[in-house]
Amino acid sequence: MEQRRRSWAEPYKIKMVEPIKMTTREHREKAIADAGFNSFLLRSDDVYIDLLTDSGTSAMSDNQWAGMMLGDEAYAGSKSYYHLEEAVQEVYGYPELIPTHQGRGAEHILSQLLIKPGDYVPGNMYFTTTRFHQEHAGGIFVDVIIDEAHMPSVEHPFKGNVDLAKLQRLIDDVGADQIPYISVETNVNMAGGQPLSMANLRATYGLCKKYDIPVMLDATRAVENAYFIQQREGGYEDRSIKEIVAEICSYSDGATVSSKKDNLVNIGGFLAVRDLELATRARAMLVQFEGLHTYGGMSGRDMEALARGIHEMVDTDDHARARVGQVEYLGNALLKAGVPLVQPIGGHGIFLDAAAILPHIPQDQFPAQALTAALYVDSGVRGMERGNVSAGRNPETGDHRYPKLELVRMAIPRRVYTQAHMDVTAESVVEVYENRARVGGLKFTYEPQELRFFQARFEKI
Ligand SMILES: Cc1ncc(COP(=O)(O)O)c(C=O)c1O
Repeated sequence: MEQRRRSWAEPYKIKMVEPIKMTTREHREKAIADAGFNSFLLRSDDVYIDLLTDSGTSAMSDNQWAGMMLGDEAYAGSKSYYHLEEAVQEVYGYPELIPTHQGRGAEHILSQLLIKPGDYVPGNMYFTTTRFHQEHAGGIFVDVIIDEAHMPSVEHPFKGNVDLAKLQRLIDDVGADQIPYISVETNVNMAGGQPLSMANLRATYGLCKKYDIPVMLDATRAVENAYFIQQREGGYEDRSIKEIVAEICSYSDGATVSSKKDNLVNIGGFLAVRDLELATRARAMLVQFEGLHTYGGMSGRDMEALARGIHEMVDTDDHARARVGQVEYLGNALLKAGVPLVQPIGGHGIFLDAAAILPHIPQDQFPAQALTAALYVDSGVRGMERGNVSAGRNPETGDHRYPKLELVRMAIPRRVYTQAHMDVTAESVVEVYENRARVGGLKFTYEPQELRFFQARFEKI
């Protein structure tokens, strides 16, 4: 019998609402000019649908909010710390937990402990803060992701895969002694939220073990990666998200996590490792830069909510299905209208291909930055540039890095917006796409030296 397509709906209902402001086009034109055409510098009060980031913007559950009241604020040995440690051990499988204020706190500690000046740190594409900390410690980042990851319109089920030949070449060229670890990101953010396969991760781990190179995951979006493995990789269709996350982590020596994503909290993060000696050194640094080893940079209530979020993200598969399902819903609406975007649709957001949408704007006039601003003016939807501005300058040549991907990211917060918000967003993107000839380039009026995308200012050319 032919099966009828069935609609899906969120596996939760709304208990509390937060009103959002409706603004006029005139208001938004002024707001974006005042913000130097940088969506990071807009006031959130001027934003209607905020897709700047899925980081720290999730809605917590009633169970998490209840946990906030039960948070133990003891300076040392907080009960909430032990709940968090149990959650990390049960779900990720790492015995040693080092809590930090957010993901970059963990990246800082890991990079400082393992990287010597002149070392090479391979990674499956880069993440801004991750690479910053590697370079800050004197390391040289080497991209070992498969080529397909840099091709927005090429369909590949696992665009986050490590290219083992590139990794082997690096090992042969510089020697394993010069490689303190490989940083493997789950569901690669800058590639468009693209997963790596279990087979690839297993093979990467095998190759690294041969040379005694530790594998450190950026497990920030391991749940979304697990969902894609369940959907796309043979042999995993009947495995739960929880089982798949545990298997992902089994092919690693440790992980940094920004808890502001998968973990369903507004702030927090951690480093987790298997090796007690490394954990001991990390704890020594933790007390210098973050806080005591039983809270790092978090309050007791934050740790309590985080412990509960870690369980919630894998307790049922319905959560991951609805989360990624909402992203796919928006992406499919845009594809139907012919808008160029990174394919396949990723796990945490839609990545518009600004280079394809605005071919009349050269990359040094920042097409993705200009498209982000145009979208905001059209409807109050806020996205984020992920292109030449985010990539920064090459420290050796001083020139822009000119990344192959020039994208606008519209990241969807977890459990926050409805399908109607997705419909409004899709209509606005289509409107701007149809009038794309009217969008012009930008130039810097202020360019910060590091992580320039956060605070840079621009004007229209
Ligand atoms: C993949 C990835 N790693 C690390 C980080 C940094 O985490 P945080 O913002 O919590 O410092 C982020 C944040 O966006 C991320 O997406």
